[in-house]
Amino acid sequence: MDTVELIPKGDERGMLIALENLKEVPFEIRRVYYIYGTKSDFRRGKHAHRNLQQLAVCVAGSCRFVLDDGRERKEYLLNRNTLGLKIGPMVWREMYDFTPDCVLLVLASQPYDESDYVRSYGEFLALAKAPKSPINESL
Ligand code: TYD
Repeated sequence: MDTVELIPKGDERGMLIALENLKEVPFEIRRVYYIYGTKSDFRRGKHAHRNLQQLAVCVAGSCRFVLDDGRERKEYLLNRNTLGLKIGPMVWREMYDFTPDCVLLVLASQPYDESDYVRSYGEFLALAKAPKSPINESL
């Protein structure tokens, strides 16, 4: 599954969701960023990462994701702050339909590294379809 249900802790004062390394988040967090103020007619992302793992949570508003592993494309609506979307290495992602109030929180397993990006869809498809090692070809 690409999604994880986040359990809110609530009491009479309101709600809280905690995200911890290797618990709700399936990796050690090395970076946090958030995307906001995105115009509704723009698509963001349009890249894959060679090694990076990420967990995305729409903490306010909503947006849609397409995740594409080179074989299959899946669409997700992130419209509640209890839904985490796990994005592994070599997954092409596009985000769109941002509401004006959308705040998309992203937790990442590595610091920002431009050399980890694959920004061409053609290159991504070639890498995703390439056999992992010569041994796999003979299986
Ligand atoms: P970009 O990767 O284009 O965003 P998106 O994937 O949402 O389309 O990043 C936008 C800018 O922010 C770009 O100049 C790179 C910079 N950036 C950082 O400096 N650190 C980061 O952790 C990220 C994700 C982006």
